[in-house]
Amino acid sequence: MRTVFWDYETHSCKMIDQRQLPWSFEIANFDDYHAVAQAITDMVVRGAPAIGAAGGFGMALAARQLPDGDRLIFIQALEEAAEILNAARPTAVNLSWAVNQQLRVATDETLESLDEIRDALLQNAQRIADEDVALNRLMGFNGAELISDGDTILHHCNTGALATVDWGTALGVIFAAHEQGKKIHVLVDETRPRLQGARLTAWELQQRGVSFDLIADNAAGHFMRKGEVDIVLVGSDRTAANGDVANKIGTYNLGVLAKENGVPFYPVVPTSTIDLNLAHGDLIPIEERGIEEVTHVFGRQIAPEGITARNPAFDVTPHRYVTGIVTEAGIVYPPFVKNLVKAVEMANSK
Ligand code: MRU
Repeated sequence: MRTVFWDYETHSCKMIDQRQLPWSFEIANFDDYHAVAQAITDMVVRGAPAIGAAGGFGMALAARQLPDGDRLIFIQALEEAAEILNAARPTAVNLSWAVNQQLRVATDETLESLDEIRDALLQNAQRIADEDVALNRLMGFNGAELISDGDTILHHCNTGALATVDWGTALGVIFAAHEQGKKIHVLVDETRPRLQGARLTAWELQQRGVSFDLIADNAAGHFMRKGEVDIVLVGSDRTAANGDVANKIGTYNLGVLAKENGVPFYPVVPTSTIDLNLAHGDLIPIEERGIEEVTHVFGRQIAPEGITARNPAFDVTPHRYVTGIVTEAGIVYPPFVKNLVKAVEMANSK
């Protein structure tokens, strides 16, 4: 089942509610784009490509919610919807990439009526979702060449089927290597504070029968120094033109530790996550989330009452720590400034 999909019977958008996993598997239903935006903020759906797809369907919903009438007013209302959806989470570029693509579709002058605009928006949202699955398969195939029989892979956060529409990015590479019959083992960072590794990645690996051990985030350096990690694979929420990579908080630590210990470090990144408009990673907006994610674990306070805390959801790993970037257009190596442009051009020409 896909993480985000359109229900053509009820004309609504459906999502696996990732806040409930691994305890229960629930599907949430959305027929209001405001609720889609809230679901993205609340992380019912999360992972850069998955929130991109949700944004695409959110725009299709907005068009259905808007009344018939003046075309200009309709487009203005869609622009407002786009602003609300784009603001739901700031770091992953896939969200604005998909939502802004939908605005371009909506302003296509060859569409003759509001109903044609509504249909075109749904078709394009479906295309974004379908393409994501195909791209992930390609990236998995491309990245699997980095994995040898017997390798142990260190992985952060959740980058699997749940973080995308289906299959996954970094975890997609792991699934592809497993499918090819390579004997691999995964060290799964639990990924505090929201535990995407412990809750979601462990669940996905278990379902697919891939061998793994869950580790506390702060154990990663220990295993790298002991020579027990062959490669680090992570995702990315936004990759700048110079190859700096924003990803789940803690990824930077892994990049530095990997370099120190001579372990290759590869982000796995669809070209939709590459933001060539940003020269370097310090320009990437970093989401800061509520401090209760740090002070509480599953509703229970674990720190003294009244303290302050900080909760950046992402960090930036400078490109000097990045061995290569796996994309659907192949594996990109330094100099990233030149080679990422080529990869994006190649992907867009297909
Ligand atoms: O806060 P999340 O769970 O949305 O963060 C997700 C990640 O950091 C992933 O690594 C990223 O989206 C890229 S992989 C699909």
